[in-house]
Amino acid sequence: MTETSSPALVVEDLYKRFGNLEVLKGISLTAFEGDVISIIGSSGSGKTTLLRCINLLDIPDSGRVYVGDELIRMKTIAKGKIIPESPRQVDRIRTRLGMVFQHFNLWSHMTILENIIEAPVHVLKQPKKEAIARAMEILDKVGIVDKVKYYPANLSGGQQQRAAIARVLAMDPEVILFDEPTSALDPELVGEVLQVIEKLVSEGRTMLIATHEMGFARDVSSTVMFLHQGCVEEQGPPEKIFSNPSSARCRQFLARFF
Ligand SMILES: Nc1ncnc2c1ncn2[C@@H]1O[C@H](COP(=O)(O)OP(=O)(O)OP(=O)(O)O)[C@@H](O)[C@H]1O
Ligand SMILES: [Mg+2]
Repeated sequence: MTETSSPALVVEDLYKRFGNLEVLKGISLTAFEGDVISIIGSSGSGKTTLLRCINLLDIPDSGRVYVGDELIRMKTIAKGKIIPESPRQVDRIRTRLGMVFQHFNLWSHMTILENIIEAPVHVLKQPKKEAIARAMEILDKVGIVDKVKYYPANLSGGQQQRAAIARVLAMDPEVILFDEPTSALDPELVGEVLQVIEKLVSEGRTMLIATHEMGFARDVSSTVMFLHQGCVEEQGPPEKIFSNPSSARCRQFLARFF
């Protein structure tokens, strides 16, 4: 974050429940341009749900999300339930927010190149030739340009995740949401994916990263947010959170890793 940067993403007082289970209980955060916010916390604390509510893969029960200065408009229907007011706005917002999933979610019936150019060509209406040229540049950046004609099933997990990151980069989103991007990988493949994410950090990309890779979170984050049972229990700069957390729960959680 620089003094001149402006918010790329603002979340205000987000609540989400599944049936009787309250999963998010009033989460707020602001990511300025270039911020890298790591979201840490035990399994079930709400990390994935938070990311999914931000890009409306799950619909929050209440709260507001702004991408840049654009509010995602919601409307109230029966029993106080809210839904997006405009599906068109949601589609547009989703082009501005990239999401990288734990299990890659590449389209298995498409080659890596087809996976990457699909949205730029069909959603952003880029000329195919231009989209291919850009895809090749991005694949080079993530180190799998030689896999362009392969199908996802023929790539290692680390290569598939790098392809998934390339697919997000092809849309040039303002904010990238990562949901435990390395936790489905064999340990020897984790490093190659983290290296790609580090490259994006050094390019000044704005990112939210739910992760269990504490060393990585400590090294790359501008802010670390510790979630506990759907609340922000503690947040702050990594130096503070990892060396001297105020919350006993946070300290207890981190003790498992260090
Ligand atoms: N679609 C759903 N329906 C019902 N319950 C859900 C749903 N999605 C998540 N939950 C519940 O919400 C809680 C938070 O889940 P979430 O996946 O956000 O946790 P998490 O912090 O990402 O955990 P992990 O570290 O294991 O990925 C869990 O108790 C989970 O079972
Ligand atoms: Mg999760």
